[in-house]
Amino acid sequence: MLPAEKRRALQLEKEKAVEEELHAPGFWTRFDGDILTKAVPIEKEVDIMLDHDYDGIKELDNSLPPWWVWGFYITIIWSFIYLGHYHLFRTGALQTEEYSIAMQEAADQAKEREAKMKDFVSAETITVLNNPEALGAGKGIYTTNCVACHGAGGEGGVGPNLTDDFWIHGGGIKNLFKVITDGVPAKGMISWKSQLSPKQIQQVASYIMTMHGTNPAGGKEPQGEKWVEESGTTTAPDSTQSDSTVTTL
Ligand code: HEC
Repeated sequence: MLPAEKRRALQLEKEKAVEEELHAPGFWTRFDGDILTKAVPIEKEVDIMLDHDYDGIKELDNSLPPWWVWGFYITIIWSFIYLGHYHLFRTGALQTEEYSIAMQEAADQAKEREAKMKDFVSAETITVLNNPEALGAGKGIYTTNCVACHGAGGEGGVGPNLTDDFWIHGGGIKNLFKVITDGVPAKGMISWKSQLSPKQIQQVASYIMTMHGTNPAGGKEPQGEKWVEESGTTTAPDSTQSDSTVTTL
């Protein structure tokens, strides 16, 4: 080859490469062709036209969108995983099982809630506890926290006598509960609600109720007003209730 011809050929080759580069499909074109539609361009549809023709209706043998086909394969693969997990190896809970698990959980939670409600005591709902365990617990709480000011037997000291009929803040379980819960900070009786649960306050208050009338040695002089329990065993018998029919007991 003559150098001039060779140069010419090289030149042509270079031009061709540049041309190809210019006309190479861009990213979006490739993305569309490979993933989105893969459809044959309208100009070339003639090539994929099937040869049947029903009353003018013809069929194109176009490709399905690749993303859709992949999705289809994935669902097939997934169905095997599902089958294995739920039906062959039984590593997953089926709906009925899941349902009973959820129901059981709810039942457990309800039980827990109920147990908590039983421990929940307020000034309105409080009652005197008189079972030995509760009073024992109350005595323990009293000994640890209250003896310093109210005395081992409730005879009083810095704090008032808890065994007599006189109360500064009213007697009875409700008033005891309130004063122990909220305290009388200005007078040196702290609020116990951050240290004792409502249940514990109920226990210690019930224990204090048992001290009434014990008249311990060194009892502090009465403070406050005389308290008369207006309900409970001390109430007069209900006159509307006739017991005339009861003859013998
Ligand atoms: C630091 C001392 C101190 C401690 C500890 C203390 N109290 Fe008191 N408490 C007092 C004082 C002082 C009063 C009187 C408040 C007033 O004058 O209003 C009082 C009042 C009371 C009252 C009301 C008495 C009334 O006459 O109305 C009750 C009930 C009571 N305390 C229970 C308790 C219990 C239960 C504990 C332990 C959990 C306790 N206190 C611990 C100092 C104390």
